[in-house]
Amino acid sequence: MCGIIAYIGARPCRDILIEGLKRLEYRGYDSAGLAITQTIGDCTTHVCKTVGRVADLERKLEADEPTLNGTIGLAHTRWATHGAVTDPNTHPHTDDRGLICLVHNGIIENYVSLKKLLEEKGRKFRTETDTEVLATLVSELYDPDHAKTGGMDLEAAVQAALREVTGAYAIAVMSTRDPDTLVVARKGSPLIVGIGNGEFIVASDGSAIISHTARAMTLDDYSVVRLTRDGLRTSTIDNVELSPKVMQLEIELGEIELGGFEHYMRKEIFEQPRALRRTMSGRLNHNEGCIVLGGLLAHAKELVRSRRVIICGQGTALNAGMVGEYLFEDLARIPTEVEYASELRYRNPIIEEGTVVIAVSQSGETADTLAALHEVRDRGALGLGVINVVGSTISRDTDAGVYLRVGPEIGVASTKAFTGQVMVLTMMSLFLARRRLMSGTDVSAFMAELARVPDHIEAVLEQDDEIRAITEKHIGRENWLFLGRGYNYPTAMEGALKLKEISYIHAEGMPAAEMKHGPIALIDEGMPVVFIATKGAQYDKVMSNIEEVRSRGGHIIAVATEGDEDIRRVAEDVIYIPECPEPLSPMVAVVPLQLIAYHAAVLRGHDVDKPRNLAKSVTVE
Ligand code: M6R
Repeated sequence: MCGIIAYIGARPCRDILIEGLKRLEYRGYDSAGLAITQTIGDCTTHVCKTVGRVADLERKLEADEPTLNGTIGLAHTRWATHGAVTDPNTHPHTDDRGLICLVHNGIIENYVSLKKLLEEKGRKFRTETDTEVLATLVSELYDPDHAKTGGMDLEAAVQAALREVTGAYAIAVMSTRDPDTLVVARKGSPLIVGIGNGEFIVASDGSAIISHTARAMTLDDYSVVRLTRDGLRTSTIDNVELSPKVMQLEIELGEIELGGFEHYMRKEIFEQPRALRRTMSGRLNHNEGCIVLGGLLAHAKELVRSRRVIICGQGTALNAGMVGEYLFEDLARIPTEVEYASELRYRNPIIEEGTVVIAVSQSGETADTLAALHEVRDRGALGLGVINVVGSTISRDTDAGVYLRVGPEIGVASTKAFTGQVMVLTMMSLFLARRRLMSGTDVSAFMAELARVPDHIEAVLEQDDEIRAITEKHIGRENWLFLGRGYNYPTAMEGALKLKEISYIHAEGMPAAEMKHGPIALIDEGMPVVFIATKGAQYDKVMSNIEEVRSRGGHIIAVATEGDEDIRRVAEDVIYIPECPEPLSPMVAVVPLQLIAYHAAVLRGHDVDKPRNLAKSVTVE
C-alpha cells in the first residue's frame, strides 16, 4: 500500500527513484509519480506522474523530462484512498503557491476541517486528496525567506503542520526554494532512512534501500528527520531532539529478485522448505527436548502462568493464528481465542491479568493489527509479535516476539509467511507445553516430526504438474468451496483466500460440517469442492461430508494422506501429502492449495504478484 522513495546526496537520482519504485511495486498501487529538484529554465522542481505502472511513468518521464537528473528528489506509488485514480490525484503533490512538494502514505483524518481553514485563508486546491491539504498546510507555515526573516524553515513548518494533523502518515517533503534539504516524518505508516556515503535514501521498506546501503535508521511515531548532504537531525514534531536509532537491514539482494522464477509467488511457494528450515534453525534443542526462543525468554515465567491467549491478525495471518488456536489449546493447554485485529480493537475487549496477546503479521505494518496491539497493551496485556520483517513497527511495539526468518515476501499473496507463521506458533506452543505439561521425551519426538516438515513440502512441490492439470480442468468454474475440519479448517480458509485474491474466482472456506448448515445449497453439478481429508481424528467425519457433496454432483478434489486408497473411491482428483502428525499437517496441506491458486491465476492470465485492488501491506485501518 503506497510506497515512498526519496533521495538526497551527490548522485543524480532519477534512476535511483525509478529503481526504488520498482522495488516497491509489490506493495500494491494504481499510479506513480516523482519529483526532482533541478534548475532547468525557470523551473526548479519538476513533477511527473501518471496513472498506471512504474513502466508508464518511466516512459512519460523520458518523453516529458529527458534531461531531468538532479540530486534531490522524491517518488511515490499510490494506492488510492481519497479521490479517484487520476493523474491529478497521483503523488507528489504541490501547493497552489508552488513552494512545497510532498509524498504521503497514510490518511489525514481531519483533512476536511484543515482544508476549510486553508480555503478561508485563500488557498486553492486542485485535487480530492488529503495529501494536497497537508502540502498546502506546510506551505502556509513555511517561509522561503526564513534565513532573513526568522520565519519557519522547512523542518519547523513540517513539525508545525504535523502538530495540527490527526491520522497516519509517512511523508517526504521538499521545498522548491531549497535544493539542499529533504524532510521526512512518520506516525503509524512505515518509513526508514537508509544511510549511505554522503547520501540518504528514504523508503517505505528496506527492499528499496538495500542495493545502496544496509545501514538504516528506524523512525518512531511523531518523529521528523531533516536530511541534508552534510548529515541529519532527528526530532519530535515538538522539536525535541532525538538520537537516531540505526540498524542493519537483514535483506539479501537475491532474496528480492526473481532468480529465474516467473513470479514471486511461485518462487516463494518453492522456497518454503528452505525458509522453514531457517525458521527452525538453532531453535530445536533435541538433546534437552525443548524449544529455544531467545525472544521469549525474558517473559517465560509470565507466559507459563498465562491464563488466556488471544491471537490476532488479518487475512492470511489470521488463518495462521487459527491454527495457533488449536496448537496452544491442544499442546500447551492454554485457553486460546483468535480474532480479527480490526474487531478486537473496537469491541472494548476484556483483558484480565494473565492475558497474552499475540499479533501475527508478515509485514509488521498492518494498521489494524498494530492498533489492536496498542489497545490491548494499554489495557495491560502482554503483547507478543510473530513477525517477518525485522525492525517493523509491530515488532518494535511488542513486549517480545519471535521472527519468522522466511526472508522477504514480495508476492502479494502470502505463502511462505503462512507456513512460517504456523511454524513459529507451533514452536511457541511447544515452548510453553514443555514448561507446563509435556515431557522432554515427548517434545523431542514432536520436534523430530517438525524437522521433517520441509521434506514433506518438497514431496508436495514435486506434484506441481499434476496440480496444474487438476486446476486446468476446473478453470472455467466461478465458484469453489474449500472444506476441512479441526487443524485443517484454517487450511481450508487459507486455500479459499488464496484462490479469490489472485484468480478472482469466488471461493469460500469453512469447516466441513458447516457446509450442511446452508452452503450445501450452492453445490451444483461439477462444482469444484476441495476437501482437506488427511488422516486424523476427524477423518471419518470428513469422508461423510465428501459423500454429501458427491451425492449432489460436486466435483471432489481431495488433499489426502499418502497411502489412503479409500479416498480414491469418493474423490475424482487426489493430491497426496506425506503422513505427518495432525497438528503439523496444515503446513503441508496448504501447499497444494497455494499451487492451485497460483495456476488458476496464471491460466486466467492475471498478474499473479500484483492482483487488482490489493496491497501487500495494508497500512490504513
Ligand atoms: O502483513 P500482514 O501479515 O499483517 O498482512 C495481513 C494481510 O493483509 C495479508 O495476510 C493478506 O491477507 C494477504 N494478501 C493474503 O495473501
